Amino acid sequence: MLDMSEYRLGIEELDRDHAELIGLIQRLDAAIRMEQGHEVQTEAIDTLVAYVDRHFGAESRLMSDYGFPSDQTEIHEAEHARLLNRVKRWQHERQTPGRRRRLTFDIAAFLNAWVYHHVAGSDVTLASFLRSKGMT
Ligand SMILES: [Fe+2]
Ligand SMILES: [Fe+2]
Repeated sequence: MLDMSEYRLGIEELDRDHAELIGLIQRLDAAIRMEQGHEVQTEAIDTLVAYVDRHFGAESRLMSDYGFPSDQTEIHEAEHARLLNRVKRWQHERQTPGRRRRLTFDIAAFLNAWVYHHVAGSDVTLASFLRSKGMT
């Protein structure tokens, strides 16, 4: 299970977003484990996708406002785009009966791994840059 204390970056806005993001992943995870209805699981995924989309937009704005180097911005945004495309594809594929359960398990496992790698990797780099520019 993801633990928010492992992902503190020292930038209030990002830490708040990531705590919310982890909460939404845990909600999706619980909806799958407790075998809640299709609507509940769909709602959990839809809410998560909308939140991820908004959070990535917020990070892009920070990168541009604080002058994060363009080559690093490109790499960071490509990681965001890969995640978003993948989850959106799953979101769409879940409409296919018989694929739902398997896909939903995959989504939760993928998101847990992704948060670990991206937040503990690329977001840490971004946060140190922002802190060096005086953001808290
Ligand atoms: Fe992030
Ligand atoms: Fe990020």
